[in-house]
Amino acid sequence: MANLWGGRFTEATDASAYKFNQSISFDSRMYREDIEGSIAHAGMLGRQGIISGEESRQIIQALEEIRSDIDEGRLAISEDAEDIHSFVESVLTERIGDAGKKLHTGRSRNDQVALDMKLYTRRQLIETDRELTGLQEVLLSIIENNTETYMPGFTHLQKAQPVTLAHHMGAYFEMFIRDRQRLADIKERMNTCPLGSGALAGTTYALDRDLTASQLDFGGGPTRNSMDSVSDRDYLIEFLSALSIIMMHLSRFCEEIIIWNSNEYRFIDIDDRYSTGSSIMPQKKNPDIAELVRGKTGRVYGALVSLLTTMKGIPLAYDKDMQEDKEVSFDAMDTVKDCIREFTGMMATAGFNKEVMEESAKKGFTNATDAADYLVKKGVPFRDAHSIVGRLVLKCVDKGIALDDLGLEEFRKESGVFDEDIYEAISMKTCVEKRLTKGAPGKAQMDEVIKFYKEYLEDR
Ligand code: ARG
Repeated sequence: MANLWGGRFTEATDASAYKFNQSISFDSRMYREDIEGSIAHAGMLGRQGIISGEESRQIIQALEEIRSDIDEGRLAISEDAEDIHSFVESVLTERIGDAGKKLHTGRSRNDQVALDMKLYTRRQLIETDRELTGLQEVLLSIIENNTETYMPGFTHLQKAQPVTLAHHMGAYFEMFIRDRQRLADIKERMNTCPLGSGALAGTTYALDRDLTASQLDFGGGPTRNSMDSVSDRDYLIEFLSALSIIMMHLSRFCEEIIIWNSNEYRFIDIDDRYSTGSSIMPQKKNPDIAELVRGKTGRVYGALVSLLTTMKGIPLAYDKDMQEDKEVSFDAMDTVKDCIREFTGMMATAGFNKEVMEESAKKGFTNATDAADYLVKKGVPFRDAHSIVGRLVLKCVDKGIALDDLGLEEFRKESGVFDEDIYEAISMKTCVEKRLTKGAPGKAQMDEVIKFYKEYLEDR
């Protein structure tokens, strides 16, 4: 396939240099965006009288046919072309002759690729948001069913105070709310159209950039500076950064799921459909999906650092370095969507061992603070109460029992203030239900939050 730029050359590109230079092997996935941009450009050229109305119509019709031919497998994208832009233009010219050669009037591959990449990123951003919504829906159903599932809350991975499974899942729901806010912010900021910026300095043709911007659904209109337009990949860096944060959240979540799924914890049973076995140890059921999501976080961070580094030394305006934005970004975009989807499936099918969780909260003395608070409410200074309960905990540790298992006499040996009502005061139910400050796990409080989550998901 001929290059778009052969005229000035007397020799063909060295074969291996050609292979090194090409991008068709990875940018072909942007064919829809490329064609969409070309359709907008051709329509505008016709309206402005830069090409004739008939030529414009011919080009648009042929581009639409090329798109459906590729969509439906009638036209294969040939790797002989240098990039997707060259491929589409060469097929167009093959099919309609001279009119096809006019498509590139007033345009450069620099503004073309800037547009394609922006359109592609916007589509990926919307799809990622959709995956996150699906995950939030699954989390919300776990939350709704577990407002009275008591479990230990941890700090330092040591049992700390009792919470509920709903509250713990709610923490992740909040993270994903912020992730989606970040995506929405980026979508807003990237809402300007680079098409019509030319190679770097605009063009002498009377392009109507407002028209193409609105046709391509860029509410913010055309970009203001043509040099910036062809060399801006900020939106992509922001998107990779948002994807990295999503992966960081998923990875933390996976870490917990892996711990909870271990024999030592047994808080959760990952379904067979989302586990794998060992080739040698017959008893094994491994949380591979969660481990893979945790592991793939690294390559998404890698994409962010890669693009930041690629961009840091590039003089204005377009330089070929920028072609390196694609492979890492595409990999990160695919990876994150895959991870959210598999993680969602794993969570939707997992079983929670409610008794084990509650037992673990009790055995871990997560009600010790509440036992101290019980004394405080009866007039004991907090520091004294802390030390009294500390001694009781020590006694329990020696005996291998929970605070709730101590007889009343044992309590009274440390302080005469203890009475029958201590048992009620330190039951998991009481400890959690009384935590009613905003953001706390008490059921009444959590019910309010659930109402908010439901409305949130209805709106989005
Ligand atoms: N394949 C190129 C890229 O991805 C397209 C732009 C080429 N522009 C140029 N002046 N060589 O960046």
